[in-house]
Amino acid sequence: MKILGVLGSPRIGGNSDILLSQALAGAKEAGADAVEKIILDRRRIAGCKDCKKCNKTGFCAIKDDMADIQKHILDAYAVIHASPVYFWSMTAQMKAYLDRWCVFFDADWKWQKLYYPKMRAKRIGLITVCGDINTHTADPIVHSFKTTAEMTKMTWLGEVMASANEKGEIVSDNMALKQAFELGVKAATP
Ligand SMILES: Cc1cc2nc3c(=O)[nH]c(=O)nc-3n(C[C@H](O)[C@H](O)[C@H](O)COP(=O)(O)O)c2cc1C
Repeated sequence: MKILGVLGSPRIGGNSDILLSQALAGAKEAGADAVEKIILDRRRIAGCKDCKKCNKTGFCAIKDDMADIQKHILDAYAVIHASPVYFWSMTAQMKAYLDRWCVFFDADWKWQKLYYPKMRAKRIGLITVCGDINTHTADPIVHSFKTTAEMTKMTWLGEVMASANEKGEIVSDNMALKQAFELGVKAATP
């Protein structure tokens, strides 16, 4: 069982990264054979062009790192995403990545037959961090991921919503660390 973490923050060692590591530690503790983190900022991911070629073929026409990331998603038992809030939304890196999930679907937003066996009921979870003390500032990010999960009948593991500003400041938020760890445990518990 592999648990995949996908980091949308460009700030390596920052707040989202720390919470994502906590979640992966929880997954390991719960018995995951492997945990892996993909740092989107270190990959080349172009925006979706809406060319619709993937609707027919199941393969994206853009040749960049998303094809490799797609393989990791397919292989993962659960995928935990982490993004800070940038202007009341997810980061550009995370949005480009999420839009490229189009490749998994046909023209009716049903799973491509090719991917259905691995994607149906795939477990996904989310960690958000915002500078605002009101963590609901991140609601639009939760809405994006949760609605995607609901529409496609993936298994929604839940969200951890934290608040922090300076790089690494989240280490003093024991509640957020615990919640992220528990999200990882849940991800790896059948
Ligand atoms: C470009 C940019 C835009 C931001 N916009 C918001 C925002 O709209 N609301 C908010 O609460 N925090 C905002 N922040 C603050 C970050 O969400 C906050 O610093 C967070 O801790 C960064 O997480 P990270 O360490 O994982 O990168 C913004 C930060 C940046 C760099």
